[in-house]
Amino acid sequence: MRDFILRCINIHKYWARKPDNIVAAYIERYSKEGDTVLDPFSGSGVTAIEALRLGRKAIAVDLDPVGNFIALMTALPVDIDSLQEAFDALKDDVKDEILKYFKTICPECGKSATIHSLIYANNKPTKIVYECNNPVCEHKGLKDLTNADRKTISTIEETDVPYWYPDNELIWNSRVNVSRGEKVSDLFSKRNLIALSILYNGINKIEDELNRNMIKFAFSAALPQASKLLVYTPGQGPGWKVRGFWIPANRYEMNVWRFFENKFKKLVSGKKESNKLLSSKYSKDAFKIFNHSATELNSIPELKENSVDYVFTDPPYGDSVP
Ligand SMILES: C[S@@+](CC[C@H](N)C(=O)[O-])C[C@H]1O[C@@H](n2cnc3c(N)ncnc32)[C@H](O)[C@@H]1O
Repeated sequence: MRDFILRCINIHKYWARKPDNIVAAYIERYSKEGDTVLDPFSGSGVTAIEALRLGRKAIAVDLDPVGNFIALMTALPVDIDSLQEAFDALKDDVKDEILKYFKTICPECGKSATIHSLIYANNKPTKIVYECNNPVCEHKGLKDLTNADRKTISTIEETDVPYWYPDNELIWNSRVNVSRGEKVSDLFSKRNLIALSILYNGINKIEDELNRNMIKFAFSAALPQASKLLVYTPGQGPGWKVRGFWIPANRYEMNVWRFFENKFKKLVSGKKESNKLLSSKYSKDAFKIFNHSATELNSIPELKENSVDYVFTDPPYGDSVP
């Protein structure tokens, strides 16, 4: 049972997420089925999801729209076949356009290969992890950057990002390695900004709102793997290992399509589980979510006198998360 909900809750990172089994134990001990449970600093919604799973009604309040989005996408039931169809159509629309930016030459057969990742040493791309596209070769491996690869990088650096991408400044905070004037786009290589803008533009064309939002959820969850925050340590896989926005000089640059597709598979497996656990319990009446400050709960009409049976919460601490 525990694994089910964890798989779904863990689709998307959220700083300071609380362990679901401990939150569940409190809810079971201090409330009963049919009660209403409130979390006024709900973050990614662990309290609300667990309350719902345990047959309570849940009210989640948080200032952070991303936290609220994660909570809602985790709870909402979705038709898996329809979601898969929307993804397949997106794949037809954007995959080839994205993979154009991840091409290299196979050193074994001299034919086209796909870049899985680039490895940077001292802020310079030095090695490429590739897979050959030639069906009679299919060689996979690690190669040194060639002059042709360097030329491709220079061309990409001069290419405009084709669609919208966020270019706003991050909130300055040295405790999480954000320097003054640093922008969201500074966290991504030009190649990956281009690829992400193509992908995000494709997602926005999905007509069905629920499918579009679910796939946006997978996109948002995959963003760390698209960023410059992935430390390269020989013998270890890529990972966002330091809290905050530290850009290591030795790092990976990953193929956007590959990890996005992988994240989508994880989303499908998480949603299969959450559909089983939550769909009979979820309704707009049973799960209410507010993008609101906990300092003004009395202005939420649903939180009138005696409307809540149990509060479980986990307030913010210090300014460690801007
Ligand atoms: C420690 S985190 C909660 C994490 C949550 N327990 C989870 O498992 O995901 C604290 C949360 O408080 C939210 N927050 C900070 N100030 C707030 C305010 N005035 N009103 C509502 N939420 C606030 C933050 O956005 C953050 O999501």
